[in-house]
Amino acid sequence: MSDRSGQELYERIPVKVFDDAQAAVCEVAKEIAAAIRLRQNEDKPFVLGLATGSTPVPLYRELIRMHREEGLRFANVTTFNLDEYFGIDGRHPESYHRFMREQLFDHIDLPESQINIPQGAVARDEVFEACQAYEEKILACGGIDVQILGIGRTGHIGFNEPGSGPSSRTRLVTLDRLTRQDAARDFQGEHNVPRYAVTMGVETIMDARKVYLLAWGRSKAEVVKAAVEDAPVESLPASFLQEHLNVSFVLDTASASELIRYKCPWLVGFPEWTPELARESVTHLSLKLGKPLLKLVDKDYQENGLSELVTEKGPAYGLNIRVFNEVQHTITGWPGGKPDADDTYRPERALPARKRVLVLSPEPQDDVLSMAATLSRLVAHGHEVTVAYLTSGNLGVPDEEANWAADLMQEAGGASIASEVLDELDAKGAFSEDSEKLRRFKSYIRRNEARASLEMCSLPKGCIRFLDLPFYENGRYRRFETGESDVAATRTLLQEIRPHQVFVTGEAADPSSVQAKCFSVFEDAIRGLSVEPWIDDCYVWLYRSDGREWEIHQVEMSVPCSPDEVKAKAQAIYQHRSQRSQLPVMNPEQSEAWEQAIECNRETAALYDRLGLAEYEAIECFVRWKMPSKGIEK
Ligand code: F6R
Repeated sequence: MSDRSGQELYERIPVKVFDDAQAAVCEVAKEIAAAIRLRQNEDKPFVLGLATGSTPVPLYRELIRMHREEGLRFANVTTFNLDEYFGIDGRHPESYHRFMREQLFDHIDLPESQINIPQGAVARDEVFEACQAYEEKILACGGIDVQILGIGRTGHIGFNEPGSGPSSRTRLVTLDRLTRQDAARDFQGEHNVPRYAVTMGVETIMDARKVYLLAWGRSKAEVVKAAVEDAPVESLPASFLQEHLNVSFVLDTASASELIRYKCPWLVGFPEWTPELARESVTHLSLKLGKPLLKLVDKDYQENGLSELVTEKGPAYGLNIRVFNEVQHTITGWPGGKPDADDTYRPERALPARKRVLVLSPEPQDDVLSMAATLSRLVAHGHEVTVAYLTSGNLGVPDEEANWAADLMQEAGGASIASEVLDELDAKGAFSEDSEKLRRFKSYIRRNEARASLEMCSLPKGCIRFLDLPFYENGRYRRFETGESDVAATRTLLQEIRPHQVFVTGEAADPSSVQAKCFSVFEDAIRGLSVEPWIDDCYVWLYRSDGREWEIHQVEMSVPCSPDEVKAKAQAIYQHRSQRSQLPVMNPEQSEAWEQAIECNRETAALYDRLGLAEYEAIECFVRWKMPSKGIEK
């Protein structure tokens, strides 16, 4: 756990940051267990407020482990869940009733009669009374001792969306568009996500005697920062927790990464001025002041909390030039290395001139969204490129797309599978999950889209692999569990290709996401190969797959794209027909995946321009990953 002084100036909520979610939940579970046992010893009840979603899943696994292995008992515990979707009953696979049974209640000794979850299946004219009864029951049980919370990207706690006041109590609410988009995959499409939910209010949560808010992954970093560092506002209900007397935010490093103590450590203490930190602070200063790197002067540094840096590493102009050169050297049109060129300051080695390159894409489309132009260049420069899709992505195919494809097959006189698929789609009820056959059919849809997409990058069909990792085939979104068979399949591929370059993603993503799961599988696979002679000659490049780009100071290879390459990239993304309009929208102006991806690459190019480097149409970026076991952690 890290602890840096000076941050109290900016942070309005106590924050604990852990290396990863697992370390964090071990600590929280220990504290909860101690509190439960204390009450047990006094023969008193304990009231626990629970959340759903992907965030608390590792905490529940740890509590289950403690129940099995350490004798933690729940007989004196009464639970109250925060919320439930309105209009679906407890058998629905996405209902929070079912979620809680599967993730916790079925595995511990909590008496059924002590479980409380808001009812989503009551008639509309009975909701008000049901909500009041819920509040009364909490009071009758003596109030909530410990409340567990996650945080939505809208800043919601429970389902208190922006606009929820500090004195709101349990009630029916309308879900925010972003929240519904975030749940779209779980419900197989945004249109299936309920519009309403019943949730404890902000004040109900504030009444809890102790509150833990948990958050994992980079996608939560901005909202966590706003909740912790900005003044409390209704547009960000989690910020009201600043008024709570006993609250902790429990974070992993990725979700904490936007906090000032990490983002601008020079504002909260006296950091060691490593070259990386110098690059970060100087690029930050240049962008903040809107002044190109080479025009920064001593006064700019002094007036912006960087006097120590300019004193230690200055004068300003020398520092500016150093950072300018470092950023300049990240730019290359030769992502596989430039043969016959001095590679001293290039991100990639010149030799071997023809490299074996392996691009790992967690789901079809991650690859082209982030690196279609780079991929095309690697092919054009004669490298032996293989693209491997780690999962089939079939869970992301809406039924309408399967229907479309099956209709087409049938009309073309296709095989009987088409009518079987159509029959299943016809018969599918609200709660049914896809059969193995339907999932396979949906995988074929994604395979064909992926092939069409890679054709736009000139990659021959023979260079495409589909690994269909078992964890995905046997799981559901946000509840995947990887295993040795996933690692073995990935290891076999790596061993077969013995790549000089691997492009991979998912390293700081939400740990429950497909991308993060795939990255951990990759990490285990490559670690198992660390004694292989080819590993020392293998560069691993990370691309981002969360709709954002790396920050300028992090980037180690930036590949500019010409206007024509940008058009081709849009085409490549567009081939993923089943995924159109499926990504969470970052900006309402760009509802299509290709628009978002290209805008992101254009924004990166604009940043390079603002730093005073060349002005490109668009840029794709990469960070080099070094195997932690070799002691050179990123
Ligand atoms: C769930 C809840 C929500 C979630 C939040 C984060 O009961 O009340 O506030 O905690 O939407 O969801 P995940 O954890 O799935 O990112």
